[in-house]
This record gives sequence, structure tokens and C-alpha cells, in this order.
Amino acid sequence: MLLLLLGILPQISCRENTQVSPLGVPEICAQMSPCGADCYTTCDNPCQCDLAANKEVPFPSYGGSCQDTGFCEGEFLHLEDCIEEGGPSCPTMLGTEEAVEKFSTFDFRIDVRTVEEWNEGHANMSIHTPGLANFPAANYLDKIGGLEHKKVLVYCRSGGRAFAASIHLLKYGFSDINSFYHGGFPNLNAAIQEDSEEREDHPTKSFCYVTGPSDICPTPLPTSHISSIDDITRLGRRVTLVDVRSKAPHRLANAKVVFTDKEKKVKRFVKKLTKKRDVLVVFCKGGNSAFAGAKKIKEQWDGVIYWVDNGGFEFLQELFGTEEI
Ligand SMILES: *[C@@H]1O[C@H](CO)[C@@H](O)[C@H](O)[C@H]1NC(C)=O
Repeated sequence: MLLLLLGILPQISCRENTQVSPLGVPEICAQMSPCGADCYTTCDNPCQCDLAANKEVPFPSYGGSCQDTGFCEGEFLHLEDCIEEGGPSCPTMLGTEEAVEKFSTFDFRIDVRTVEEWNEGHANMSIHTPGLANFPAANYLDKIGGLEHKKVLVYCRSGGRAFAASIHLLKYGFSDINSFYHGGFPNLNAAIQEDSEEREDHPTKSFCYVTGPSDICPTPLPTSHISSIDDITRLGRRVTLVDVRSKAPHRLANAKVVFTDKEKKVKRFVKKLTKKRDVLVVFCKGGNSAFAGAKKIKEQWDGVIYWVDNGGFEFLQELFGTEEI
């Protein structure tokens, strides 16, 4: 699934600086970076004191003040302060309850732990950026570049590294960073499993985001992983778009409408599928019925089933267009 990302990587550069500054990027880089023309330093510290004072380069949006080094550095944020008070420079801090509740609503989850920790277990739908707590986000553009406007959850083992990494992401230009501070991944994982098992609609969306596809979980297909029709057709030989909205004045061009609350309709639909050839992409309006619908179909058919999260119909409509029913 992560491979899909490769298709939508943008051209990364000091885009903002080029627009704002009359100087060329190489000149700014040379002036700003202690190591010479090192572009990421420019992007990550988009301000040198005199340049910023002259309004030749933008002052960092995360706040900041001129330091002795001659560079503008962010105010020194502390985890505890952000938990207790928050503020414009802080990521949104999430405790366990909130993180469990919102887990499936993020465009991305970023795991900043080491390779060893990741290998011991991680949330399936995560991007792994080991070391992001210590290095600028610009070092990870192959994985997260171009996604600055997305809603992101950052987690580690206990909360400290997630916080440090969140600050790096904010400095780089991410705008909706949510930092899980309470007990890290093992704790979050346990809480999500427990929460799901207690519910009648087990497995929950969040549960499936952690475990990934399984006998009981259809595969989440985050809208952030789809940018073109190709991303969808690449999923399989014969992709069938499945609309599980109950009331719909317009339908997606080429989509099959299946009322998953009616057992017979699901049975009839499933009968026509072949496991070898068909891949389903189930969608609805907001994402909740897509998940429920995909689960229903999965109970009767064990082929490959994706469900589109969060964006659903409106998002796909932009790609595929609609037709009157
Ligand atoms: C998610 O789970 C699937 C199926 O179990 C697996 O193929 C895939 O590699 C996993 N992805 C990650 C990021 O762990």
C-alpha cells in the first residue's frame, strides 16, 4: 500500500522561499547553512535573522526568535507545556482515549521508533520514519514529502520521541500534527484491541488499521494514498467500485450499487464475483458505512476487499465523475 505513495511524490524544494525571497535558493542556502548550500537547512529553518528582519525570507510560522547562532530557532517547547497549555507552536496532544477514538480518522500515522521496535510490532497503516525525533523532517521527504496538509498522528514508544518528531514536522510545514503522548505504541495497540473487542461491531475501523487486512478486516484504502484513477486500477485486474450509500441521487460512473443492509442483495452480488479476478473497492459518503459494508461483504466472500476511508464518495467523484441514476 505504501508503494502507492511513490506515485504521488511532488517536486520537493524550498518552494516557499523561492516565492518570497528575491534571492535565489542557492544563495539563501549558502548564507543560511553552516554547512554550505544545504537545502534542507533552508527549508527547515526558513529564516536567518537579518534576512527575516528585512522580510526577505519568511519568519517561521511556528514562532521563533533569533538565537546567538545567527539562525532563527523555534522557541524551546516542552512536552509537558504542550500537554498542559498547548499553543500555536504545539502539536495537538492526544491521550489514550482520544487516540483510540480518532485512530482511523488520520490521513497518516507516523511511527518514529527504531527499526528494531518497528519490527517488534507496529500499526499496519503507518509510515516508518526512524530517527525523525532527531533529524529534520526534510530528511524524510521520500516518505512524507507533499503531504504537509494532511492530518497526521505521530507515535513512538512512550511519547517523548513522538513529541520531538512532531515539532520537526511542524517546523517543516505540516499543519495538522497530532502527537500521542500517553504510553506509546504498545499501550495504544492494547487499548485499541480492547476497545474493539468490547464492541458489538468488532472489529472496529481502528482495530483494522492496526492489524491490517485479515480474515475479519477488509483493507483500508486511505484517500491520501489515491491521487489518480491509476492508483485504483493498480489494485487488481478487475476492480469493481462498490457504492454502499443507502440514498444517492447521483452515482459514481461505473460503480455497482449494493445495499449491504439487505442480506439477499449482498448474496446475489457476491455470487457473481470470482476470487481470482475481482478486487472490490467499497465506498460511501464519509467512510463509516464503507467499512461496515466491506465487512459485510467479507463475511460472504474472501477475495480482496478495500474500503475507502474518510473521503468516500466525494473524493472518488472527482476522479471518476458521476451519472444520474
Ligand atoms: C500490513 O498488513 C499486510 C497484510 O497482513 C502486510 O502485507 C503489509 O506488509 C502490512 N504493512 C505494514 C506497513 O505493516
